[in-house]
Amino acid sequence: MEHRPTLGLFRVILALVGSNRRRWKYQRLVAAFFFAHTKMIVKMSRQTGKTFLASVLVALYVLCGETVIIAFPTLKQGKRLLLGESHKRLVQLQRFFPSLLRFKVDNQEQILCANGGGVIVLTTHKDAKSREGYSASLIVIDESHRAHKDIFDELFPVTFAQEHDVKVLLLGIGGYRNSLIHAMRRRGFTVFSLDGERIAQVFPPYLHSLKEARESLTEDGYRSQIMCEDVLSGEKYIFDTIPTDLSIEKIRPCPYAGIDVGWSGDETVVTIMHAYPKGKIIIDYMTCRGAFKDQANQIIEFLRAHHVPEPYTMIEKNGIGIGLIERMLDHSENYNFMDIDKNSKRWLVEEARRMVRDGELAVTPEFYRDELQGLVMTTKDDGTIGYEHSDYLSSLLMTVANFVYA
Ligand SMILES: Nc1ncnc2c1ncn2[C@@H]1O[C@H](COP(=O)(O)OP(=O)(O)OP(=O)(O)O)[C@@H](O)[C@H]1O
Ligand SMILES: [Mg+2]
Repeated sequence: MEHRPTLGLFRVILALVGSNRRRWKYQRLVAAFFFAHTKMIVKMSRQTGKTFLASVLVALYVLCGETVIIAFPTLKQGKRLLLGESHKRLVQLQRFFPSLLRFKVDNQEQILCANGGGVIVLTTHKDAKSREGYSASLIVIDESHRAHKDIFDELFPVTFAQEHDVKVLLLGIGGYRNSLIHAMRRRGFTVFSLDGERIAQVFPPYLHSLKEARESLTEDGYRSQIMCEDVLSGEKYIFDTIPTDLSIEKIRPCPYAGIDVGWSGDETVVTIMHAYPKGKIIIDYMTCRGAFKDQANQIIEFLRAHHVPEPYTMIEKNGIGIGLIERMLDHSENYNFMDIDKNSKRWLVEEARRMVRDGELAVTPEFYRDELQGLVMTTKDDGTIGYEHSDYLSSLLMTVANFVYA
């Protein structure tokens, strides 16, 4: 019999691993939130069971035969607490499901159980190539408030762009910069925040922790660690390239998309961008390859998930691209496409560089920005100037074309 991870099954597992029932008064909110969302940030104060709850969720997924990725995005690789806790939960459950949960592999990199479920540990030691083959139903990043920008970006292609159906759970205390929350919201993340004083109201033993925290923490420490507030610490957390004074009011309520169609074997790249009064910001991207029909379906699904209106989707029309455009026009006649020659492309590159320089365009995924800054200019025999650029940049340029030519 096959089981899906559900809230009901989660409660059964909680009981089996001896969960403290009094904590359910507030932890049930987190559980309900988890099962109702796909991409989420949980901010909850210190020592309230974030890691514990995550370890039970991991064990539940493994019991259901699913693969979970536990990612460690911090510079310090020592924090493997969640892996250790999840291991403990699985050992506890082995008493009840000995044949399903028998370990076939059990080390610091991976746990694999007899039922096919397991945990993969993703560290920054693994290069991007070696991560490509993984697919999981749940990705958990504990202590994500410590996430360093560079490493988080490195994990993005795996954790956020390509796997649309996968659940992503980021757990942490406060201290996120506002920009991170905003950035994650634009990526489709929902934030859940439960502060320590509210927890103490329904779970009085926590009053003791509150008292200790007041005595030992600074004012800012208390605000971020207990009240889960966004306290600017001056440290460079992720998404520091996005201006923090960004108004949440968008110029246009919906995003733009640009598509660079891959030539045979190459990837097609889709970039999505929002326009704010202080600038335009890349919010997500995806890549795909293979038959145009499948690509069109994947792209349309991605655009719909981000609520991109069809006319704000700009597809580069070149020789081979027409195949994809035709497939997309089968779905709707409103998609926009444009035949773009070398001159207009060069002009778009220059316009995009100017926008980045003047702070009108925030290019968060590091590699897009590096591309724009490190462009190699080429001069042809006939004297025309061009730029060597990647598919990612091409797709960004199509997004830019959307409002430059609008
Ligand atoms: N439902 C529960 N049943 C039993 N013990 C629990 C429960 N929730 C939390 N605990 C216990 O409370 C303590 C703190 O939990 P945990 O480490 O998961 O909190 P945390 O929010 O991750 O803390 P931190 O902010 O320090 O990372 C641990 O000893 C954990 O085992
Ligand atoms: Mg923890």
